[in-house]
Amino acid sequence: MGKFFDTTPIYYVNDVPHIGHTYTTVAADIIARFHKLQGDDSYLLTGTDEHGAKISQAAEKHNQTPKEYADTISKEFNEAWDKLNINYSRFIRTTDEDHIKTVREFLQKMYDNDAVDKEPRLYKGLYCVGHEKFMSPEELVDGLCPDHKTAPIEYSEENYYFKLSLFQKQLEELISTDQIKIRPETRKNEILGKLKQGLEDISISRANLEWGIPLPFNPKHSIYVWIDALINYYTFGKEKGIWPTDLHLVGKDILWFHSVIWPAMLLSVGEQPPKEVFAHGFFSIGGQKMSKTIGNVIKPEELIQKYGVDGTRYVLLAAFPFGEDGDFSWELFDKLYNGNLANGLGNLIARVAKLAQDNNISEPKNDFAISEEVSQLIQNYHLNAALTYIWNQIADTDKLINLQKPWTLKGGELETALKELILHIKQIAHNLQPFMPETSEKILKQFAGEVTVQPPLFPRI
Ligand code: MSP
Repeated sequence: MGKFFDTTPIYYVNDVPHIGHTYTTVAADIIARFHKLQGDDSYLLTGTDEHGAKISQAAEKHNQTPKEYADTISKEFNEAWDKLNINYSRFIRTTDEDHIKTVREFLQKMYDNDAVDKEPRLYKGLYCVGHEKFMSPEELVDGLCPDHKTAPIEYSEENYYFKLSLFQKQLEELISTDQIKIRPETRKNEILGKLKQGLEDISISRANLEWGIPLPFNPKHSIYVWIDALINYYTFGKEKGIWPTDLHLVGKDILWFHSVIWPAMLLSVGEQPPKEVFAHGFFSIGGQKMSKTIGNVIKPEELIQKYGVDGTRYVLLAAFPFGEDGDFSWELFDKLYNGNLANGLGNLIARVAKLAQDNNISEPKNDFAISEEVSQLIQNYHLNAALTYIWNQIADTDKLINLQKPWTLKGGELETALKELILHIKQIAHNLQPFMPETSEKILKQFAGEVTVQPPLFPRI
C-alpha cells in the first residue's frame, strides 16, 4: 500500500464554476478514487483562490467586502463539487487561517535563504488585472490585453523579487530527467524549450494592494496572489505529513506556474518539488472561447440537470483525449449520452438484469479488481482511452449475448450463459468505479439481488 497526493488548482472566486473547472476537478477525483481503490492512502485537494486585485474589484461591484464576496462564491464551488461527488480530502480556501500562517512562514524562509532580495526593486510595467500578471508590450494588441480586451494598468511600484533565475539549471535537470515529470510529453518539451531561453527573477509582492497576505518581512507589501495560492498544496501536505505532491493536475494555461515557479519556490526552502504535473487541454464552446462577455459559459448544474451526476462525469471525460483541447457542443454530449449511456451501458444492464430476475439467477462472485489494461491507462492519465476500453468490454458483452441467445436456452444451459454474462457485467462495473461511482454501485447491487426493480440507469434524452 502506498500513498497518493493529487491536487487540482484552486479556483478564482471572481468566477462561478464552469465546465472547464468541472473538467479538472472530476478528472482529479477519478484519479484519486482509482488510487483509493488500489489500496493507496489517497488525498485529493481542491478549493478556492481568494486574494488579489481581481477579487477586490469584483467585490466592490457587488457592494460587498472581499471576504463576503469570497464566502459566497467559494460556497458555490464547494456545493458544485459536492453535487458531483468529488471526494476531496479538504476544500481549502486561501483565506483559511492555517494557510495564511503557512504562507507567511514559507515567505520568511525564502527570504532567510536569500532566495528573495533583501530590498525591493522599482518596477515599472503593465499589469493586467484579468490575468493577475504583468504583461510585456509585445503581448498587447492595440494596447489591450488580447484575452480580456482591457487596457492594462500602468504600474510603477516597489516589488520584492524572487531570484527564480538561480534555479534554471536545476529545473532543466529535474524536468529533462522526469524527476519532475511533465505530461503530456509535448508540454514537457514546451516547458524545456522555454526554460532554455532563460529565466528572469519574478516579482512576488505588491505595494498597493490591501486584499492579500502581508509579507512577513515587510508588512507594507502584500504577497502576490499566485505565490500565496501555490502554497495551498503545502499548507495541506505539511499538516497531513504527506510531501511531496504526487500529481498536480492543471489546465495548460497554468502549467508554467506549477512546473517552474512552484518547484523553484519549493527548492528555495529546501523542500521537494512535485513528482508529476499533468496539463489537460481547454474546452472551447461551439468553436469560440468560453467567456462571460460572449455569454456562452456552461455551468456544471446545466450538465447535471441533463445528464445526471455520473452522466456528467462520463461525458466530460469521454468526449476528448485527456491532454488535448476539445470543442464542446450539446449535440456531441447528447450523442455520447444517448449512444453510450442510455443505449450501450444502460441497455446491456437492463437486458441482462431482466433475464436474471425472470429466471432467478445470480452469480455471487465479487472479488474483482480493476482490469489491468484500465489500470495502466488510468495510471498514465489516459482517462478517455480507459473509457474506450471499458466501452469495448460492453460491446463485447453485447456480442456475447447475441451469440448465446440466452432467451432460447433453458435450465442448466441458461444458468451457465447468464452467469457468464453477469461476471462480465460485474467486471465492467468495477472498472467504472472511479469514473461513475454511483452507477457502479447500483449495478453491483442489482446483480447481488439487492434490487429487484431497476429503473433505467440512463433515460434517453
Ligand atoms: N486560481 C488559479 C489557480 C491557482 S492554483 C494554485 C486559476 N484559477 S481558474 O479558476 O482561472 O482556473 C482553474 C482551472 O480551470 C485551471 O486548471 C484552468 O486551466 C481550468 N480551466 C479554466 N477554463 C478552462 C476551459 N475553458 N477548459 C478547460 N479547463 C479550463 O487559474
